[in-house]
Amino acid sequence: MNLPRHSTPKSDGAVGIDRVLAGIENIVAAGRAIPIIGPVKGRILYLITKIHQPSNVLELGTAVGYSTLIIARAVMGYGRILTVERDPDLAREAAKNIEDAGVSDAVEILVDDAAEALASLRERFDMIFLDIEKRYYTLVLDSCVEHLNPGGVLIADNVMWDELREFRNRILSHKDLESAIIPVEDGLSLSIRA
Ligand SMILES: C[S@@+](CC[C@H](N)C(=O)[O-])C[C@H]1O[C@@H](n2cnc3c(N)ncnc32)[C@H](O)[C@@H]1O
Repeated sequence: MNLPRHSTPKSDGAVGIDRVLAGIENIVAAGRAIPIIGPVKGRILYLITKIHQPSNVLELGTAVGYSTLIIARAVMGYGRILTVERDPDLAREAAKNIEDAGVSDAVEILVDDAAEALASLRERFDMIFLDIEKRYYTLVLDSCVEHLNPGGVLIADNVMWDELREFRNRILSHKDLESAIIPVEDGLSLSIRA
């Protein structure tokens, strides 16, 4: 689907990011199986980030850095992103994409398991984007909430999948979260920490 990605004027930084994003979309369209968020949910992720204006973002599940670059575009000039990927080859590819897009100063890649990274991180974040292997979503949920500042936002991808039923129930009934499911494609969830 060819959606106009941006209706706002582009700074030089945004042009570099958009070029790399388009390159990743082309590689996926040509058949490489990288499970990126894609342009439709990516646009929602971008706008939520732009509205929320997080100073620091934790992303769990980098792959080749596609969603990282969407978030980086939204926080350009003020925000910092820590992104966690357990596969070192993908992390290397993400680092190259982030470098090519000209935002490596704003992004740090941690090669680690998401649960272990959360266990070792002392910092809290204004926003967390959760996009790892689905069976770990419920496992890391409470730790994600603990790592959010009050008023912080948790976004999770693919939440309409059957195997994420328990995760959906948990975020919708969580005592520290107000949540909604956005049923676009295979679903995004949006939660705010009280
Ligand atoms: C769906 S892809 C991420 C896509 C990326 N967020 C995007 O939209 O461009 C999931 C990634 O998470 C990584 N991953 C899966 N389980 C993980 C875990 N427990 N800890 C860290 N990374 C994990 C996988 O290697 C894969 O690269």
